[in-house]
This record gives sequence, structure tokens and C-alpha cells, in this order.
Amino acid sequence: MIIVKNLVKSFDNQKVLDNINLKIEKGEITVIMGGSGCGKSTLLRHLIGLIRPDSGEILIAGEDITKMDEDSLDNLRKRFGMLYQSGALFNSMSVGENVALPLREHTKLDNRIIEIIVKMKLELVGLSGFEDLLPSQISGGMKKRVALARALALDPEVVFYDEPGAGLDPVSRAAIDKLIIDLSKKLNITSIVVTHEMKSAFSIADKIAMLHAGKIITYGTASEIKNSQNEVVQQFISGSPEGPLTQRRTGKEYLATLTGK
Ligand SMILES: Nc1ncnc2c1ncn2[C@@H]1O[C@H](COP(=O)(O)OP(=O)(O)O)[C@@H](O)[C@H]1O
Ligand SMILES: [Mg+2]
Repeated sequence: MIIVKNLVKSFDNQKVLDNINLKIEKGEITVIMGGSGCGKSTLLRHLIGLIRPDSGEILIAGEDITKMDEDSLDNLRKRFGMLYQSGALFNSMSVGENVALPLREHTKLDNRIIEIIVKMKLELVGLSGFEDLLPSQISGGMKKRVALARALALDPEVVFYDEPGAGLDPVSRAAIDKLIIDLSKKLNITSIVVTHEMKSAFSIADKIAMLHAGKIITYGTASEIKNSQNEVVQQFISGSPEGPLTQRRTGKEYLATLTGK
């Protein structure tokens, strides 16, 4: 479904993505895992064409999106759903109006039909009858579900999730994880989930790619990742404070990595 080839992107002379190669299979849940600031969101933004790489290709259904003009990208994005890290609901609009937004923006359906679709999407995420509430009246987990219902509004083939469990308690997080699995299997949606939470990654992933220092250091099923011999992967899984991820540096050495001197 999606093939990333030799993707490179730098910000301020710092290579954030350093020759990324990745294949995302249709209908599967692919988890992109890695520490804070390792470039997960940056990779995701490339996949939906919000950022253009310095070099490399991103093939979606055979077409290189890094070379597409903005109009074609807009068209392509209608086939994508995106659950942003912040959720990003409009607080002044009701739950139902938030979910209706993509339908009003991208279709000419009349109100009566939009209302029916909104009801269906809210039912999919377990929030039937919540149309008239305001975001301020519901919990963090519910807000994530509303944002997900909105991401599903246009019946996407692919849904991107950026840290779907961030800021949620363990029970709400597990509920969102279960929802991601259900939607993927029931609606045959290709899902790309960015997370740094190992428990979520192992419970939802068909495939896991671990991003570290700009590269995919390991890729495979949950059990393949658990058996990885890579020390960085093992430290990440165990959450140990000691290991290659926590090399102690002096202030001077650290400064040198920032300035390149
Ligand atoms: N638009 C940008 N301009 C400059 N630096 C950026 C930009 N976006 C991300 N970065 C930098 O790229 C690195 C990776 O960021 P990000 O992809 O948000 O990480 P993650 O999502 O894994 O936490 C960080 O060092 C961040 O400061
Ligand atoms: Mg991020």
C-alpha cells in the first residue's frame, strides 16, 4: 500500500530521517515506535504529504507523492484519516459538528444525510447519542474517540494515528487500542500508528518498525521484535535506565553534537 524508499530529511543541518525504507502492507496495522523526538511525527507528516523530503520517494498505490502538486495531494488526503496527537477538536463546536466537518468541507451531501453519517461514525467509536455535547463536557478518552470518528468521516482506506494513547489513563488507552484493532479488521483499514508505548505497540501491531537516530533499526512482528538482539530495542522494551540509549555525555560533548564542532 505504502512504500518508503531512501527517505532523507534534515532540519537545521540535523538529519532527522536518515535513509528510511519501509513497506506498509494493505489492511495491516503498522506501528512506528521510538523515543521522544526521534522523528516519528515527522515521518508521519511525510506520509500524508504535509512535508516534502530532501530526497527519497513515498509510493502510495504506485504513485510517488513527494512529486505531487498540492491539488493532487488534497485529493489523495481525502482517502486518508488522521488522528492528530492533540486530538484537535474545535471546542466551540458540538461533537456532531466536529465529526461533520470533513463531510461539509469535501462533499455536497445535504444536512439530513450528513446527520445520518455522523450518527454512524459516532456509533463506530462507541459514542452513540453524543452529538449535542461539547468537547468540554466529555473525557479525554471520549475526545480521542470523537477525533477518530471525524477521521473516519470520509470512509478512509488508510488511517494515521499519532500517539493515540497520549495523556490517557491505562484503561482508556487500552480501549482506544482495542478500537484501533476493531476498526482495522472490521473496515479493512490500513493503519499506521505512532507510539512510544510498548504495551500498546505489542497489543495492536501486525508489524512494528522501530525508529532510532534517524533510521529504522528493526522491523517485524511483535514476537520478532521481542526476540531482537539489538541492544537499543531491548533497552526500549525493558525500559531500563542503563544501556545504549542513555550514554552519559559531558556538557561539552553534548554541545558538540548540537553545533557539529
Ligand atoms: N518543522 C520543524 N522544524 C525544525 N525542526 C523540527 C521540525 N519538526 C520536527 N523537528 C525536529 O525533528 C526532531 C523529530 O521531531 P518529531 O518528529 O516531532 O519527533 P517525535 O514525534 O518522534 O517525538 C526533533 O528534534 C524536532 O525538534
Ligand atoms: Mg510526535
